Order: sequence, then structure tokens, then C-alpha cells
Amino acid sequence: MRPFIAPSLLSADFARLGEAAKLAEEAGADLIHVDIMDGHFVPSLSFGPQLIASLKKILKIPVWAHLMVEKPDNFIFQFYEAGTDWLSIHLEASQHIHREIIQIKELKIKAGLALNPGTPIHFMIDILKDLDFVLLMTVDPGWGGQTLIESTRNKIRLLKNWIKGQNLEIPVAIDGGVTVDNMADLIKDGVDIFVAGATIFGHEDPAAVIRQMKEIALGGGTL
Ligand code: DX5
Ligand code: ZN
Repeated sequence: MRPFIAPSLLSADFARLGEAAKLAEEAGADLIHVDIMDGHFVPSLSFGPQLIASLKKILKIPVWAHLMVEKPDNFIFQFYEAGTDWLSIHLEASQHIHREIIQIKELKIKAGLALNPGTPIHFMIDILKDLDFVLLMTVDPGWGGQTLIESTRNKIRLLKNWIKGQNLEIPVAIDGGVTVDNMADLIKDGVDIFVAGATIFGHEDPAAVIRQMKEIALGGGTL
């Protein structure tokens, strides 16, 4: 697949989230990434399922809830009811990750497992084939606008090799520190889905950045 672009609303103006999401959709975004933070698993607070429900009323592209919360099993059904299309939960936050991934899949939501930069990918070897996608954090989660941690690139390459080696087709998403300048190298590493917040919504013309990222994803150069 050609890489997807998933703008993260965390860096958008919170007073105009609907407009930001719609602008991203019209500029060619493939899905909208919404960071859900509980102040425990990560220090920050952000959004809840109500935002997902509101976005679902105005968007055609899929909405992706990235749960950065403790005890994600308490929230799976709420996000299902809100209408999320994709849902990723953190390995580090869950005691029964297999059960929760299966629950998500039974609800017909795309189920993703998220891993922090310091968590070895080996911890997901036994659950890999059950996943619809993997989310490798390329920064420590909690805030937008951080710099990509270079050592995570090795994890991306290793994971892609595993996936190929098992004849699986599981997209690998990354989240944190994606820029128009590092995307081409990350595509070579094997990234299938780029989450990007500050690069898009920190720019005065977010639509232009999304179009530029789409060009790079299609194999064009940076502008
Ligand atoms: C970080 C969040 C990200 C964040 C990425 O904890 O999970 O989705 O928005 O932001 P950038 O692209 O600004 O690094
Ligand atoms: Zn995220």
C-alpha cells in the first residue's frame, strides 16, 4: 500500500477541531488521528469519546482513537459507541492485551497495538497475527511537537521484517516527530501510516503540508 497520512488533532486549535479535521479531509488525509489522554498513563489530558462522535457526523474518512489511558478495557465500548473506526491501545497500559484486542475486533473496529519507544517489539510476538495494525511510538507519548527518537527506526525495520517473514500484511504506523524532511527515509524503513500533528497543524497552511506529505507518500520529492 502507499503510505497513509493521518493528521493528529492534538496540535490543532481546540476551539476549531471540526474545521481542522474537515480541512485535513479535503486536503487528502487518509484518516484522522485523535489522541485520548487520561492524565495517568501520560501526564496530559486531552479528549474523550464525545469528540469522536462529533467528528463522525462531519467526516467521510475513518476516525482513529489512540488511547493513551490506563485500563483501556474500561473505554473500549465507549469508543465503539462513539463510532470510532480504528482504535489503538497501549501494551504498557493493559494487563490482558490479547482479550482486549479480540474485544475490539469483535466490535468490527480496526484493532491496533501501540508500543512506547522503550518497549521491545518482542513483547508483541504472540499477538502479532491478531492485529489489524501496529502503532510504534517514535516519541515518548504525551505531547505533540517532539523530535523523533532515532533508535525507533531500527524497531520499524525489525518489525517489518518479522511481518514479512510471517507472510502477514499488517500496516505499521508511527506517531511522533514526523516531518516532511524525514518521511522519505521512514518510507524506506517500511512505515505504512504516518501520524503527524505539529508538522501539519503547527504550519500556517495545514492543507498545503498534507498535500506535500501525500506527494512524498506517492514517491514524489519534497517541494
Ligand atoms: C503524542 C501523540 C501524537 C502527537 C504527535 O503523544 O500520540 O499523536 O500528536 O505529534 P507530533 O506529530 O507533533 O510529534
Ligand atoms: Zn497519537
